[in-house]
Amino acid sequence: QAQQKQKAETLSDLLEKAGDSYRKQLRAAPKAIEYLKKRGVSGEVSKRFGLGYAPAGWHGLASVFAEYDNPQLEECGLVIVGEEDGRRYDRFRDRLMFPIRNVKGECIGFGGRVFGDEKPKYLNSPETPVFHKGRELYGLFEARQALRDMGYALVTEGYMDVVALAQLGFANAVATLGTACTPDHVQKLFRFTDAVVFSFDGDGAGRRAARKALDAALPLATDTRSIKFLFLPSEHDPDSFIREYGPEAFARYVGDATPLSRFLIESASEGCDLGQTEGRAHMASNARPLWSQLPDGALKRQLLSEIAALVQLDARDLADIWAQEAARTA
Ligand code: CTP
Ligand code: MN
Ligand code: MN
Ligand code: MN
Ligand code: MN
Repeated sequence: QAQQKQKAETLSDLLEKAGDSYRKQLRAAPKAIEYLKKRGVSGEVSKRFGLGYAPAGWHGLASVFAEYDNPQLEECGLVIVGEEDGRRYDRFRDRLMFPIRNVKGECIGFGGRVFGDEKPKYLNSPETPVFHKGRELYGLFEARQALRDMGYALVTEGYMDVVALAQLGFANAVATLGTACTPDHVQKLFRFTDAVVFSFDGDGAGRRAARKALDAALPLATDTRSIKFLFLPSEHDPDSFIREYGPEAFARYVGDATPLSRFLIESASEGCDLGQTEGRAHMASNARPLWSQLPDGALKRQLLSEIAALVQLDARDLADIWAQEAARTA
C-alpha cells in the first residue's frame, strides 16, 4: 500500500514536470498562441488552467527527462513504446495541452488538442495508476473556490467549455473527460456543492450524454440536493454559445434549466401519446427503472404521485404494478 502510494506520487511528479515544459514551450510557439487567440482564450485563463504546447517532434520529452528510457514515463502515459520495434516516442506531439489535475492539484494526465481538423481531435492520457477517466473531472481543482462562492457546479463535455465559461464568469464549470458521466463523477461533485447543472452540447451526442447523466445522478438525488439539465440550441456547446451570445444569455439558460424531476418525466414519456390508454401505460413502464433509482424521500414520493396522475392511475396502484414488474424482471 505504502509502496503503491510512493509510486503514484512519482508518476504525478513526472507529469507535473512535463506540464511545466509544455507551458514554457507555449510561450515560444506562435502557432499555439495564435490558435488560443483565434478561439478567444485570454492569457489569464490560459495561465489559470496551465495550458501548454507539446512540440511536433517524436522525442520532445527526451530534452525534459534525463532518462527517456525510464519505464515510468510509459506508465504515466507520456511515452509510448512501439509494440513491434520497442521504440519509444512522445504520446503528445504538436498539440495544445490541457493538464488534468486531481482535487489535490496534482497533475494526473493531459488532454491534447490538434490545431486543425486532424483526427483524433483530442488525445487523452490513458488509464494509469493515477488517472481514472470515470472518476476525474477536468477543472474541478481550479473550480473549487467558485463552487463555494456560486453554490453550484456546471458540468460540461469539453475542455474548451470549461476554459470559455471560466473566462466569461462561470469559474464553477468542470468537464467529464470524453466519457459518459458516472455516479463517481457526480458523487465527487457533491463533496463540493449540493447543486449541479449539467450543460452538455446541444447536439444528439449531448442529449444522450444528458440521459446518461440522469442515470448517474438519480441514486444521488436526495431531497436537499438540486440537479438540473440545461439544453442549448442544437448547433452550440457552452463554449460557442457563451462566446456568441455572452454571459447574460448563458445565465438565463442556467436559470431556465430543467429540474431532474421534469427531465425524468420527459424522458419517460418520450414517444408516448398520453392522450391514449396505451401511451399512458407505456410511459408508466418507462418510468419505473428511472423512478426506482431515486433514494427514498419526499422527491420520490412526489414523483410517484405526479407520474400516477399523468398515467391516470392511483399512486398506490402504480406502485403495485411497478413492484410486480420489478419482481418479474429481477
Ligand atoms: N473528446 C475526446 N476525444 C475526441 C473527441 C472528444 O476525448 N476525439 C472529448 C474531449 O474531452 C472533448 C469532449 O469530448 O472536449 C467533447 O467533444 P466535442 O464536443 O467534440 O469537442 P469540443 O470540446 O467541443 O472541442 P473543440 O471546441 O475544441 O472543437
Ligand atoms: Mn488509482
Ligand atoms: Mn460534441
Ligand atoms: Mn467546442
Ligand atoms: Mn463540444
